[in-house]
Amino acid sequence: MFTACLPIKTRRVIIKPMIEFPKDFLWGAATSAYQVEGDNFNSDWWQWEKTRPGIVSSGAACRHYQYFREDFALAKSLGHNSHRFSLEWARIQPEPDKFSDDQLNHYVRAIDSLRSLGIEPVVTLHHFTNPLWFSKIGGWENPQAWQYFLAYAQKVIQALCGKVKYWVTINEPMVYAYYSYLIGDWPPQKKSPAMANKVINNLVEAHIRTYRLIHSFYKKNKLIDPSVSIAQSMIAFVACQKSLRNNLAVYLRNRVFNFRLIEQLSRKKCLDFVGMNYYTRHLIDTRGWSWEELLGNTCTKKHDTLPKNSLGWEIYPQGLYDLMVALKKYKLPVFILENGICCDDDQLRWEYIRQHLKKVHEAMDRGIKVIGYLYWSLLDNFEWDKGFAPRFGLCAVDYSDYKRIPRDSAKKLAQVASNGLLEE
Ligand code: GCO
Repeated sequence: MFTACLPIKTRRVIIKPMIEFPKDFLWGAATSAYQVEGDNFNSDWWQWEKTRPGIVSSGAACRHYQYFREDFALAKSLGHNSHRFSLEWARIQPEPDKFSDDQLNHYVRAIDSLRSLGIEPVVTLHHFTNPLWFSKIGGWENPQAWQYFLAYAQKVIQALCGKVKYWVTINEPMVYAYYSYLIGDWPPQKKSPAMANKVINNLVEAHIRTYRLIHSFYKKNKLIDPSVSIAQSMIAFVACQKSLRNNLAVYLRNRVFNFRLIEQLSRKKCLDFVGMNYYTRHLIDTRGWSWEELLGNTCTKKHDTLPKNSLGWEIYPQGLYDLMVALKKYKLPVFILENGICCDDDQLRWEYIRQHLKKVHEAMDRGIKVIGYLYWSLLDNFEWDKGFAPRFGLCAVDYSDYKRIPRDSAKKLAQVASNGLLEE
């Protein structure tokens, strides 16, 4: 027998240090109904878009309503074992006294489809949009708002309870109140601190009632314990320069925007985990002692030290770590329900993800229990009043034919999700 005698090349193998995530860590992405489904014509945003000059319409969005199976298969192919999505209230309850079994069944099919792929669903009940009829009777300003919401939630819980463990009642209550009732950029475009406060209280009430309803329902039906929370937007507030006034502004903003609801709901024992959405930092440089200055103003000086996303938001992974560590005192697991970047440079997207994951891991080393990490978003989608220009997706969407094209960052994240290992 002839054996070739080949020269042995000595290759230098560089072993890169790796960090390891737990085996049961949830990996995936998040979406919201209005931003991806398309044709949500019974929602308040739909009506609003049509009447605002210069505002892009959501239209068919990503046609996710039709293509949900393909999208979930895509998520599976990208190594996701969890997926967050929301239900469009206006589809399920298009009129005050009418619930649509057809639409409810659509979401049952969506969850069955996720489960059949081994993907853990994370279901959001309210993600910024309302049925048109609800907004006509005052929306979240109406003192009975929570009762209307509870009736909808009850229908949903009945239909989905055996199939869902993770529930998010309300997405970013503070952000919703801020844009819709304080600065008035979003429908119903009110500008009233008193109104914003009232809306927050009604959203909190809706969460508490829904939290209790979900738990009592699961108990009565002897189902495994559900895990219920809100999705809390958290921003890293950093003083430009240390001064008494700037430090006070940082303290107040943390109290009001980041921690007020977590504090309130954890005291009432109505949070099973902290659902955390994190994107960026705000630099603070106050010029006066008024509430507007302390709570509202941001620094106008040019700071070009940090890279930014295409909407100009600074990329600041350290903030994620700092906020996670600050959550330790609540003794609740943290679930990153959104973290993401809109940009044209996919290399930057991967760096963003990698740097933030490193910070998540660092926080875990400090004893924070983390359920999982969901990137915003699976697909490029409708970014509210900014239209379709910001590209947040792990997968690009070609809006001319609705093709999804996974970006390199999606493949790199898939690699991490497959073995839990991330290059340091
Ligand atoms: C939010 C929402 C998403 C956004 C995302 C990017 O936080 O505003 O949950 O709907 O699209 O955060 O801005």
